[in-house]
Amino acid sequence: MISPINPGAEDISRAAALLRAGKLVAFPTETVYGLGASALESAAVRRIFEVKGRPANSPLIVHVDSVERVLDVVREWPAEAAVLAEKFWPGPLTLVLPKHARVPDEVTAGLDTVGVRIPAHSIALALLRAAGIPVAAPSANRFTQLSPTTAQHVREALGDAVDFILDGGACSVGIESTVLSLATGVPVLLRPGMISREQLEAVIGAIQTGGRPEDASAHNSPGQHPRHYQPRTRLVIATRDNLPPGNGAFVEMPRNAADYAASLYDTLHDMDAQHLDWIALHPVPETPEWDGVRDRLRRASAR
Ligand code: TXA
Ligand code: MG
Repeated sequence: MISPINPGAEDISRAAALLRAGKLVAFPTETVYGLGASALESAAVRRIFEVKGRPANSPLIVHVDSVERVLDVVREWPAEAAVLAEKFWPGPLTLVLPKHARVPDEVTAGLDTVGVRIPAHSIALALLRAAGIPVAAPSANRFTQLSPTTAQHVREALGDAVDFILDGGACSVGIESTVLSLATGVPVLLRPGMISREQLEAVIGAIQTGGRPEDASAHNSPGQHPRHYQPRTRLVIATRDNLPPGNGAFVEMPRNAADYAASLYDTLHDMDAQHLDWIALHPVPETPEWDGVRDRLRRASAR
């Protein structure tokens, strides 16, 4: 079941009631579509893992509609978290903090920390407000496949396994949130996104980079799996004069990072449906605002 595009109050309250009843609801955020369930119900959260085919050791992000509600799911609220929340929430930033005892172990894959964010999307915020509970939501795709940036992507990937899909059109940011851990002494960047390391450092000072696949810490952030966010068709990063043999397509992408990110997954979903031998995209700049896009391209093209 999928709502009309830009659903009204009735569809929102229906989706909220489903979440409260332990059902799965896919909903739009500014980054990608999420596959949501009550973050307070182990059984509902376990269904997320089943539907995605996601390994149980991969923690979920909890979504709430206000800082007040964040305090229901975390045990500590350090000064850095408060200033980052003030500056970047609602928005595409996930903070990893010591978890509150009321959050079940299923949500955090047994970790003592929880990832939490306030999404910047009117439908997501309306849903969270109406549901009145924290909502655990990974991206609404099958494990290692492309993240969805439209309601159609969700329907194609998950079909009837989802109880309801709220259709908010295309996601504006287009790649997953930046994930920053504030759970240990020094802040650690676990996943780059469109809020860059530089933007974070301008607010809280030096942060470390962690969670690379070759690091031991990768076990704590399985989103850092080297093969992730992949189309079925082989993706190559190459210039026009350096393309592999066979039947493929070189796709021209936008020249600025925000527009590139916003169209990346939709482009890959489209090209993937064309039964090509390969899809080629031009390499992107090495500058900080491209870190999130570069990370996704590296994973999507890893073999
Ligand atoms: O933009 C997003 O973040 C989207 C939308 C739906 O909010 N969600 C998303 O969820 O991308 P998912 O499950 O695909 O990615 C969650 C990421 C993973 O890299 C996971 O390892 C990390 O967040 N994460 C979540 N909780 C964590 C924790 N307690 N410690 C370390 N990493 C955590
Ligand atoms: Mg994901």
